[in-house]
Formats: sequence, C-alpha cells, structure tokens
Amino acid sequence: MFRSLSIAVFASTFALSSCSDSAGPTYEELVAANPIRPLPAMMPGHSTALADLPDPPDPAKVRLGRFLFYDTRLSADATISCATCHRPENGFSEPTPVSTGVAGQTGSRKSPSFLNAAFAFYPETFWDGRAASLEDQAKGPIENPIEMGSTHDASATAIADIPGYAPFFEEVFGDPVVTIDRIADAIADYERTRISGNSRYDQWIEADEDEPGYVDPLTEQEHLGRELFFGKALCATCHVGQHFTDSRFHNLGIGYDAETNEMVDVGRFAVTAAEVDTGAFKTPGLREVQLRAPYMHDGSLATLRDVMDHYVKGGTANPWLSPKMQPVDLSDEEIDAVIAFMEALAGEGWRDTPPEIFPG
Ligand code: HEC
Ligand code: HEC
Repeated sequence: MFRSLSIAVFASTFALSSCSDSAGPTYEELVAANPIRPLPAMMPGHSTALADLPDPPDPAKVRLGRFLFYDTRLSADATISCATCHRPENGFSEPTPVSTGVAGQTGSRKSPSFLNAAFAFYPETFWDGRAASLEDQAKGPIENPIEMGSTHDASATAIADIPGYAPFFEEVFGDPVVTIDRIADAIADYERTRISGNSRYDQWIEADEDEPGYVDPLTEQEHLGRELFFGKALCATCHVGQHFTDSRFHNLGIGYDAETNEMVDVGRFAVTAAEVDTGAFKTPGLREVQLRAPYMHDGSLATLRDVMDHYVKGGTANPWLSPKMQPVDLSDEEIDAVIAFMEALAGEGWRDTPPEIFPG
C-alpha cells in the first residue's frame, strides 16, 4: 500500500517541496535537521585541507550521504544501517569483536574505523585490502548476506520508493534517479568528511616552545611514550605518518592456530594468493584508537594493555610472522607510557550523531 501511494507523494514532493503529508517530514524540516555543512577546515596533524584534495567531497552529496549512512532501510529487513556496525561513538567502529548483521548473523571480522580515509592513506580498504575505493567499499556490505543482506537493486528500489529522498538526489545528481552507484557515491563522500586532527600530539608538533606562556600540551608520561613509540618499541616501523599507518599488510600472529598450524583467517592471502601474505592484515591508523576496543581484525585483544603485551613478546610465532615483529623490552611503566601516548592522539572534528529525522 505504501508503494502505490508513493507515486502520488513523489509528484507532490516535487511540485511543492514544502507540502506536508503523512509520508514523512517536509523538505524544509529535513533540510533543517540535516543542513549542508561546510567541509572541515585544515587541522593541525594534516598536511592538506579536505577541500584541496583532487576530488574533494561535495557538501550537498555529503548531506545526502549522511541520511543514507544512518538509514536502516538500505538493509533487507530495514533493521541495519552502516552505523549499526560503524558507530560514531566508537570512532566509527564497534565495541564487539565481530559484527552482527541482518537476522542476528555474525561475521568473522571486527568492524574497522574509516576515520581520515579521505587522505588516501588507505590505497585499498577492508582488513585484507580487497576494495579499491570507498565507493566500491560502500556497495559491499549492502549485498553481503550477513551484513545488510540486500541486493543492490533491492536497496536502490527501497530508497527510490521513499519520495522524500527525491529532492536530495536531484540536488546532487541533477535528476532524482536512485542507483546503487549514486548511493555509494554519497555515502563515500560522507565518510570522507569524518576526519580527526588537532590532537594534543599535533598541537605539540605545531607549538613554538619559545612563545611566552608556552604550556606543553603533552605530559611527561606521554613524552616518554612518544619516544618509545618512535624508538625502541618499534611501533613506528609500521604505524608511520600523519595517520599512523604504512598502509601495508603484516602478519602479527593474531588468529594463529598452533594445533593445525593455520591462520584462522588467511587475510591478505585471499587477495594476492602470495604465501608471504598469509594471515597478513592492514596496519590500522591509530587516531581515536582508545574508542575502538576490542582490537585487531578478529577483535581478539580486549584492551590496549593486551595489545602491548602482544608486541612485547614479539607477536605470536608462526611460519608467516612479519620479520619486523621482534620482542621489545619494555617495563610496566614504559608500557603505560606508550598507551598514554596513543590516547594523546585523540583529536576532534569527526564526531557526529544520526540525523533526527529521515526522508519519508
Ligand atoms: C553488519 C556490520 C556491518 C555493516 C552493516 C557495515 N559494515 Fe562496514 N565493515 C564491517 C566489517 C566487519 C568490516 C571489515 C570487513 C573486512 O575487512 O573484511 C567493514 C569494513 C568497512 C570499511 C573499510 C574500512 C577500512 O579501514 O578498510 C568501510 C569504509 C566500511 N566498512 C563502510 C561501510 C558502509 C558505508 C556501510 C553501509 C553501506 C557499512 N560499512 C556497513 C561491518 C559492517
Ligand atoms: C610489523 C608491523 C607493526 C608493528 C611493528 C606494530 N604494529 Fe600495531 N598493528 C599492525 C597491524 C598489521 C595491525 C593489525 C593486525 C591484525 O589485526 O591482525 C596492528 C594493530 C594495532 C592496534 C589495534 C588497532 C585496531 O584498530 O584494532 C594497535 C593499538 C597497535 N597496532 C599499536 C601498536 C603499537 C603501540 C606498536 C608498538 C609497540 C605497534 N602497534 C607495532 C602492524 C604493526
């Protein structure tokens, strides 16, 4: 019944975008709830502004993407949105080891954060690097049977059947046609605006100690952690650059089953079929890492302390362990300091909450 109504409502939404009807909020109400926002400005910790990227996000597209990212109607049973597994309060990750999708089905990997993905520090996405762009990536979960469990056609039709979306597609694409590529485009641009910077560590880098009234943004403990992180703890051999990742794949021994001598999840090997990539996963960036427990591709380490214990022993020995993994000699005090340093990477500019109303 909703479907047969929708054609009439579609027409009226178009002709009189302010017209109110039982189908949902008016265009004006939607625009007030989800206004076009300027792109985030350049922040300490970033060498470029979002607007200066070769193909910067389009603010109107970001607005549309923000509706879609939080809209459960993209999934087969209208219960799961992208934000179900990529929760803003967890740095767009999830507080569980693996995700639960439609009909309570669980996957086998931890939901990763995509903060700062705009800066292309990820040439490839997913833990094993199998998607080439955020656009490609956004289409994956929609038709993954255990994530959103829909098909691209069904999702596009579901959104096309919501008349309140038409003016927002028209505003961005010039006509109201809904396709899966347009949905993915809009969501990807929204994701690109989720960037974290201006942490106390960034402030320390930019500060001038000789300024009168200078106050060091980092504590003594955090400085110790910083020196260890870039020094004898060896973290920066893989967690490098502004976003603390080399965008490469390494085997740390996470998910190694000593009894069968197998990696539970072969990781990057599934993409390259190269023996050396067995059980290798992408180095995650570390900004907002304190919000992203549990850790690692399988969510098997509950706390940052557990992560540190794994590194101190040089990872878990297995035939494919990265040669960069070596035992590191750190006292308890030094371990706490490295954790304090990672926590000092917490920044700003990325937080969000779902729109209060959605197109109807
Ligand atoms: C049921 C939970 C679930 C839902 C729903 C979901 N995701 Fe994910 N997402 C995951 C998991 C788990 C991974 C890691 C998968 C892998 O590496 O194989 C992931 C990976 C990603 C990545 C890659 C991040 C990186 O660092 O490589 C992005 C981007 C992403 N999802 C965006 C989305 C978008 C956009 C949607 C909605 C269209 C969505 N996700 C829906 C669980 C989910
Ligand atoms: C050999 C490269 C390498 C080195 C050295 C390394 N890391 Fe990692 N780090 C990775 C990879 C790869 C992962 C993901 C592994 C997985 O899930 O199987 C990871 C995961 C993490 C995570 C979990 C993040 C998340 O979102 O789940 C934290 C925290 C972390 N590393 C901090 C550190 C610290 C601190 C050090 C130094 C003590 C360090 N790393 C040294 C490559 C490295």
